Amino acid sequence: IVGTGANSKVIATLPSGESVEVLLYGATVTSWKSNGGKTENLWLSEKAAVDGSKPVRGGIPVVFPVFGPPPKSGHPTSSLPQHGFARNSRWEFLGKSTSEDALDSTSVKLDFGLYSSGLTEDTRKAWPLDFGLQYSVTLAKDSLQTIVNVRNEGDKSFEFQFLLHTYLRIKDISKIAINGLLGVEYIDKVLNASTHQQKDESVTITGEVDRVYASIPQDTTSVVEAGKPRFDVVRDNLSDTVVWNPWTEKAAAMGDFAPNEGFKEMVCVEVGTVKGWQKLEKGEVFEGGQTIKSIL
Ligand code: BG6
Repeated sequence: IVGTGANSKVIATLPSGESVEVLLYGATVTSWKSNGGKTENLWLSEKAAVDGSKPVRGGIPVVFPVFGPPPKSGHPTSSLPQHGFARNSRWEFLGKSTSEDALDSTSVKLDFGLYSSGLTEDTRKAWPLDFGLQYSVTLAKDSLQTIVNVRNEGDKSFEFQFLLHTYLRIKDISKIAINGLLGVEYIDKVLNASTHQQKDESVTITGEVDRVYASIPQDTTSVVEAGKPRFDVVRDNLSDTVVWNPWTEKAAAMGDFAPNEGFKEMVCVEVGTVKGWQKLEKGEVFEGGQTIKSIL
């Protein structure tokens, strides 16, 4: 762990130079470098707060137990902020483990935990349910795996949504194609939350995009840059994916988004379970996450 205060983070490096950095605040992955440490794969705003004052603009914020603005009233998450509390709670670092596969390739796993007992009093009041979250971040030579384990530790059932709000770093948004969503229905938040079906093989981005693709049969969403595969985002037990780019005006309206033109160098491909709710009975566990492959 580096640092002692709100900006404490855990850094892990492989012998071949790849690295990952995770802020304890939100268990937010703020940097992931591959290619021997030479290529940063995640976009992080130059004005991202990394002092625990607000959720991090960039990296991989963890969204739980509600995605987007919570239902207005009458739902257990109704008093929570947009995207819930996991991304702005301080997590515990549970430890690091290293392993080698059959090809002598090393990987390092970092584990983080967040429990009802670790929430602030206000958050605990707003969502008074007993839960345990364990989050594992595994760095391998060309990939990063981030998996969450949600446990109901109370006597009552509860429901939740979960999403990994990954900001992928790209070079030029005008050259990006997102594949693997053909035929999938999505809610277009830019068009009054209307429902559409993905008719083109590739999603390209030429303006604000905020789409929730749901119940995706394909496991992998690929990001292709200038005709070359750049990232594969592989879902694990999660069937939805949000594609988001704020574009000029929305980027300028966010106080913590910098530089202004930064939206040209990022695209969010956010895996999750956000259509409807996942229900967990007493003692039950849900596990889901992603593996992102950086192709260079
Ligand atoms: C995306 C949502 O997941 O997150 C967008 O689909 C939202 O609607 C974006 O604007 C950023 O949210 P926030 O709370 O980090 O500003």
